[in-house]
Amino acid sequence: MDETRRIAPVEDVPSESTLLFTVRELDADEEREAILHRRDDGVVAWLNYCQHLTHIKIDKGSGAPMRDDELVCANHGAMFESESGLCTYGPCEGAYLNALDVTVADGAVYLDEEDHELVGLGGVDADGSADLTSTSNVEF
Ligand code: FES
Repeated sequence: MDETRRIAPVEDVPSESTLLFTVRELDADEEREAILHRRDDGVVAWLNYCQHLTHIKIDKGSGAPMRDDELVCANHGAMFESESGLCTYGPCEGAYLNALDVTVADGAVYLDEEDHELVGLGGVDADGSADLTSTSNVEF
């Protein structure tokens, strides 16, 4: 496998949350955040942006919240199936998260997208700049 595409060991990918990483979309020369989630039947990857307001991140840096095997956007409570990325509840019901192809080999997860390259673990704002979009509007 191409080690420049190795995202993380499978054991580091949470089954109750997500692991944040960053890719570069080659056509747009733009960095985009993405998330990994481990399921019983494999590892899935999505771009880290809600389908309600697409600048809003689902994983704000410490793992996405989950409920009943669904990823939850903390801003307005949209819920996405971890298997398909389908929004089953909330303002973007019926929309899908943007999937990224990944492959598991030799105990690690590799990015399997020809038009993206791996930047590394962590988010685009890993330099510590403030993310003013992360305030939750959901009351539990
Ligand atoms: S921004 Fe995610 S539900 Fe509104």
